[in-house]
Order: sequence, then structure tokens, then C-alpha cells
Amino acid sequence: MSTAAAHKSQAHTSADAPPVIELRNVSKTFGEVRSLSGINFKVHPGEIVGLLGDNGAGKSTLVKTVMGFHRPDSGGEIFFQGKRIDDWSVARARGLGIETVYQERALCEKQPIWRNMFMGREPRTKWGLLDVKKMREESARLMSEHMGFTSAAVHPDNVVTTMSGGEKQGVAITRALYFDAQLVILDEPTMGLSLTETKKTLDFVAGIKKAGKSAIFIDHNIFHVYPVVDRLYVLDRGKVAGVYDKSEISMDDLIDRLYRVARSGSLE
Ligand SMILES: Nc1ncnc2c1ncn2[C@@H]1O[C@H](COP(=O)(O)OP(=O)(O)O)[C@@H](O)[C@H]1O
Ligand SMILES: [Mg+2]
Repeated sequence: MSTAAAHKSQAHTSADAPPVIELRNVSKTFGEVRSLSGINFKVHPGEIVGLLGDNGAGKSTLVKTVMGFHRPDSGGEIFFQGKRIDDWSVARARGLGIETVYQERALCEKQPIWRNMFMGREPRTKWGLLDVKKMREESARLMSEHMGFTSAAVHPDNVVTTMSGGEKQGVAITRALYFDAQLVILDEPTMGLSLTETKKTLDFVAGIKKAGKSAIFIDHNIFHVYPVVDRLYVLDRGKVAGVYDKSEISMDDLIDRLYRVARSGSLE
């Protein structure tokens, strides 16, 4: 499979650098429900990590913990670039370059692309006015250099409503990278997208790696996940049921193991 070869694992090219993010012994309980249980998880610099598992396995809870949205139960620890952070929060995570690409709703549909690209972080002129010229120029550059929008039909002045779902994801991902994200989180970004849009979104995920950044990629479809990731975690009922370096497992073996997890809840 050529795509897999193209994205061949480079998981440990930065072996000396500490993980961008690491969870140690993280559990998360909501009332009676234990969504995460003793999770150990990490993402290395420049690494794309896949999260697989059935509905309710805890994938979203895990990434929401990384985003600072959930606090781990006591005993759990979060490390950023090797340093333990005790007051982990959304603001803290964002300040450290952890960006989440939400499905479409992250964009303002009625605004032009350039406006969306800089939403909330608009550059200003020395007189304190919005630097519209810079935003339009930078948007055009990012769209052609990073998003492969060569078509004249996609112009920074276009409103978002005119874009396809995949193109919208592209804007959201490019925005995350432009603003120096260290780690981009994508929780089911291809949900509800057409085949072509999905392909485009997967290409953007590969672009995150090319930009030397890290990502956590969640998708139901293993055929989406396998080609773009370096490593994979399989979650089952709130626990890590398996961790795989992609170079060590074929897609067929992985599918086989996922079935076994679904049947018995254990891998070996
Ligand atoms: N805010 C919450 N309050 C109560 N239960 C929750 C909350 N978030 C998630 N859960 C529960 O935690 C479990 C894992 O959910 P989730 O992380 O969304 O799984 P996944 O994303 O893998 O489908 C589910 O049983 C879900 O109902
Ligand atoms: Mg989920």
C-alpha cells in the first residue's frame, strides 16, 4: 500500500525530545461511569497518533482531557514536553499550542475565508485597526502553499458557505498550524463528509506531519486512520487495550485484533 509507505513511521526521529504530551495513570469518572481507567498515553514531536475503539470506548474523553476540558481524577498526571503540569486547563493547553479541529462548526459560515483564518487573533496595523490587507494576503498564501488550493474558484474573499466540507476542514487545520500549534487534535473530522472531502481531510492530516507538528487523530474508519498515523492506541471500555507502532503491524492484523477486542475485551 503506497500511501502507507509514503507516511512510513518516523515516530522516533525526535527520540531525544520528550513527548509533546503525556498522560500517566489518567482516570476519569463521571458519577458512576468510569470513562477512562489508568490511561498511559503519549505523543512524540512530529508524530501522528491514531485512537481507535468502539463507541463509548473513551476516545473523546481522552482527547478532552488533553485539551484541558476534563480534569483527570486524582492520581493522574499530565506532562507537557516532559514537564508535569498541575493546573492543566483549556487556557493552559491552548497557550501551549494544543489546538482542536472541530467539525465545521469551528468556522463562521457567513464570513469570508480570510476572516475565519484569523478569527480571534487578528493582526492589527500600527494604528490599531484590523490589518485586512495582511489577512487577505496571508490567507491566499496559506491556501496555495499549505492547502493546495490552486483553483481560482477558491479565493480568500469567498464566504465559507461556498466551500466543501473537506475544504472547511482544510481551513480549520491550516489555521491551527499557522498559529503554531504543537499538537492538533482531530476527533472524527471525516464524519458526514463525502469520499472526496474525506480524501482531502486525510491529505491535510498528512500535511500536519509534513509541517513537523504532531496530531491525535480519531476516526471510526480504520482505512482512514491506518495510512496517516505513525502509532495507534486501541481503547476498550476506558482502558488502553493495545499500542502499536505502525511499522510493526499490518492493517489486516490490526483489523483482526480490533475484532478480538470487540469480542472478548482482551487482545492476547
Ligand atoms: N460529560 C460526561 N458525563 C457523563 N458521562 C460521560 C461524559 N462524557 C463521556 N461520558 C461517558 O464516557 C464513556 C466514554 O465516552 P466517549 O469518551 O465519548 O467515548 P468515544 O468517544 O470513544 O465514543 C461513555 O460511556 C460516555 O457516556
Ligand atoms: Mg467520541
